[in-house]
Amino acid sequence: PPMSQQSPSTSSPPAPYRTHTCGQLRIDDAGRTVRLAGWVHNYRDHGGVVLIDLRDREGLTQVVFDADECGPATRDEASRLRSEWVVSVEGVVADRGVDEKGKSRENPKLATGRVELRARSMQVLSESPTPPFAPDEHESAKVNEERRMEYRFIDLRREEMQETLAVRSRATKIIRDVMHGQGFLEIETPCLTRATPEGSRDFLVPSRLVPGSFYALPQSPQIFKQILMVGGCDRYMQIARCFRDEDPRADRQAEFTQLDVEMSFVEQEEVMKVTEEVVRAVWRGVLGKEIPDPIPHMTYEEAMNTYGSDRPDLRWELPLTDITELGRRTEFKVFTGAAMVKALRVPGGAELTRAYTDGLTDWAKGFGAKGVAVSKVVAGGKFETGVAKFLEPIAAELIEATGAKEGDLLAFAADRPRIVHKVLGELRLKVAADMKIPPKTDFAWLWVVDFPAFEEDEKTGQLTYTHHPFTALASDEDVEKLTSTDRATLLSLKSKGYDLVVNGSELAGGSIRIHRHDVQKQVLAALGVDEARQEQNFGFLLEALRYGAPPHGGIAMGIDRMVMLLRGTTNIRDVIAFPKTQSGADLLCDAPAPVEEKQLAEVHIKLDLPRE
Ligand code: AMO
Ligand code: AMP
Repeated sequence: PPMSQQSPSTSSPPAPYRTHTCGQLRIDDAGRTVRLAGWVHNYRDHGGVVLIDLRDREGLTQVVFDADECGPATRDEASRLRSEWVVSVEGVVADRGVDEKGKSRENPKLATGRVELRARSMQVLSESPTPPFAPDEHESAKVNEERRMEYRFIDLRREEMQETLAVRSRATKIIRDVMHGQGFLEIETPCLTRATPEGSRDFLVPSRLVPGSFYALPQSPQIFKQILMVGGCDRYMQIARCFRDEDPRADRQAEFTQLDVEMSFVEQEEVMKVTEEVVRAVWRGVLGKEIPDPIPHMTYEEAMNTYGSDRPDLRWELPLTDITELGRRTEFKVFTGAAMVKALRVPGGAELTRAYTDGLTDWAKGFGAKGVAVSKVVAGGKFETGVAKFLEPIAAELIEATGAKEGDLLAFAADRPRIVHKVLGELRLKVAADMKIPPKTDFAWLWVVDFPAFEEDEKTGQLTYTHHPFTALASDEDVEKLTSTDRATLLSLKSKGYDLVVNGSELAGGSIRIHRHDVQKQVLAALGVDEARQEQNFGFLLEALRYGAPPHGGIAMGIDRMVMLLRGTTNIRDVIAFPKTQSGADLLCDAPAPVEEKQLAEVHIKLDLPRE
């Protein structure tokens, strides 16, 4: 039956709303009577003939309302349409044909670009005020991100967002297929739980039934997955939501998703192999791209020494050179007085302006450094500008050691190793970006292995774990040294922890775990956790480890970060349907928000806020 042409309030919608999607019709469909439903992407009135582009998730189709075909009433109704109204249109598919000058009307940019729908009838399903921005890439780029998050329902209509969510969905399907195919069990672990240590702050949930007690949202399912192994549930996987109350960053959200994995009776290689199979299948399935097989390994020590980072971005080589000894032979106090001096060779860096290189000093101060010294390599193996005069006695050796050539710049940092590595590790990436040095590859994959078991906390100076306190030590000799009271000895211990790094981003991290009760207690003791707190915080894990724990290990991969890589974005909010801002707010629903007195009373909470 022909559709009615009344406003949405007075008519019932046609059934079905549509026979095809807006991305589906092709020239072979010409002559067919079909129905489309979607949003009015844009509209044009061509002297009485109304043209609209109708949009849904699948694409755009041009719809033509010509009074000769649809009657004047429907044409008039069509001229009332505005952006983002929702309509269902019935019509006949037609070749777009040629214009008055004989030129083809085809739009080669659209999959449906050879056809149009010649409307016969239409129904308005929903109206819309003028949206705060149009859901296309051009318009949305002009509004700030907060506006887009506030009106996420408009923003989500953008083609790029739709594609990102589709990629995310496809990737998780591939992950599940691979894991299930390898005999993994998908098991859910609780969200209302106890604090688990992943080095961040917990989100707390007050208990109504147990006054004064709180659940913590999991920072990861770490302890539960280990207990699953003790419980005989070998080969566990879960696409798990994790919660960490830390300040959001470009690649970090308070609430994020992991592919979480744990396996029994395995060593590192088997966990890495499964992980590689997952990312290989995802990259093949989503991007049609191959990943190196196997993914190369680099020790933590080499990564730090050569690239100044435990997650080096190997899209650029740009290695660091240790020149501590050479530096001692200069009269530059900055070099002679420092624990470590390293140099970064910047190929072609002589073209960098004085303003740029001067600016590096302030930039470096942001990382706690005192500065960055620079000098340019000129003809005859000499240095000019910057700290050139100090380099004279070591010029030849410096050039030999760094491989520098005429036209290059050397940048130096002198400080404690941590600062030197931080500054030059960041400087590698900064010059690569600022000088637009072409990357060697789209995706630089790397396993970083042999992590130290412990490190010193940057702020407190206290001994802390590198991965988490359940990570196994690399060898029996390392285990024997656990009881040492010497800080340097503890810092020298290696672990069976590993990270998968892609383009300088930590995509996944995992380890072989401690499965011996006594060793787990020793590690906690080495970290300064006394018996009482061991019992209080980890009692349930320690108890489980006494009852026949199999050797086990696993890994967790950041799904949000994976989708960021697949979509080539550096903003994690781009890959999450409903993300939070830098200050942890959900602008769409306006969370977090105050709650009523009554609700607080139910969970036995009284507020004590400073008065404004
Ligand atoms: P880890 O803390 O290294 O390990 O986390 C694993 C991976 O999760 C991702 N990730 C994040 N993504 C977005 N926002 C965040 N705030 C965030 N934090 C982490 C990263 C990271 O590589 N239980 C251990 C894993 C294990 O040992 O098996 C864990 O959670 O991609
Ligand atoms: P100054 O001697 O303080 O004028 O510094 C001379 C140059 O050395 C400046 O470019 C500083 O940025 C740089 N510089 C100062 N301290 C350090 C340091 N610890 N490491 C590297 N460069 C430094």
